[in-house]
Amino acid sequence: MGKIKRICAAGLALVLAVGMLAGCAGTAGQSEPKSIKIGVSVYDQYDTFVSQLMADFNAYASRREEETGVAINIEIYNAAGSQTTQNGQVEEMLDDGCDVICVNLVDRTEPTTIIDMAEKKNVPVIFFNRELVAEDLERWDRLYYVGAKAFESGVMEGEIAADAFKEHPEADKNGDGMIQYIVLEGEAGHQDAIVRTEYAVSTIVENGVEVEKLGYAIANWNRAQAQTKMAQMMSEYETEIELVIANNDDMALGAIDALKASELDREKWPVIVGIDGTDVGLAAVAAGEMAGTVYNDKRGQAHAMLDLAYELSVGGDLTGLDLEDGKYIRLPYAKVGPDEVETYME
Ligand code: BGC
Repeated sequence: MGKIKRICAAGLALVLAVGMLAGCAGTAGQSEPKSIKIGVSVYDQYDTFVSQLMADFNAYASRREEETGVAINIEIYNAAGSQTTQNGQVEEMLDDGCDVICVNLVDRTEPTTIIDMAEKKNVPVIFFNRELVAEDLERWDRLYYVGAKAFESGVMEGEIAADAFKEHPEADKNGDGMIQYIVLEGEAGHQDAIVRTEYAVSTIVENGVEVEKLGYAIANWNRAQAQTKMAQMMSEYETEIELVIANNDDMALGAIDALKASELDREKWPVIVGIDGTDVGLAAVAAGEMAGTVYNDKRGQAHAMLDLAYELSVGGDLTGLDLEDGKYIRLPYAKVGPDEVETYME
């Protein structure tokens, strides 16, 4: 059901054979298993950030396989935006004998079914990127979360925007001493959407730049939706928009698509800021289309998730993993402007 990929990161035939003979269970106290099986369900395989995170996860699994000599079998499922589908996928992964399950929740308020099923089979769960509330993570001691600190990205995005206006006072196009802005928001109810908007705006103000909100639109992290919403706001506010605060790079790129499709001269474009540092986002910073982005450390998150999944599977030691409250791994964000962008582009 919706399984998009089944990989053995290295030596496919051999690994499969070893996996079949050795089984997949890594149990504490026993000798190191020859293979482990990790099940992953993503909320939407077409989400740019999540798909890049999974690419890093797979690449790192290959490296770890070489380092450890343990075959790492990974099953990745696409929940395609349905929590019911995702619950079914987790059931399948548990039946399949996965040692650990990684879940990118579709609905971060609905982890109960998954937690109950996993607990019944005593299989640990690592939630990632879409953060469940702390009370849910407390429900069982084999539940973990890998992600980032949402507020930090908002603060950094606000700093990038404030600096852009301080360095380029002419970006206040109507010269009224106030920056007219719009916000392109991620999914309603997603921890990153709510918190990023709030901290980005308050940080701009704390940095001494006065702002006036013209409007906002929910574009669900999605480039095409953002383009449509941006086009609508441009027809409503015409050339008044001086700043576009996007909750992620894909929506910032949607705004850029709308600007490119419009008749507005390049020098009259608003300042645009994003978050993620996806490949396309970084390219837009390098091209000067975005003032900057905030790097959402997909590689760090992918590595932390794999390291944690590995140790949980082989019954290893978690002490080296720096778990906050024994449950959380949160990677820091970083600001990426024109000066830093080369370092982040590969
Ligand atoms: C990322 C978005 C992504 C979302 C998916 C956020 O942390 O910044 O780009 O769409 O997670 O859950």
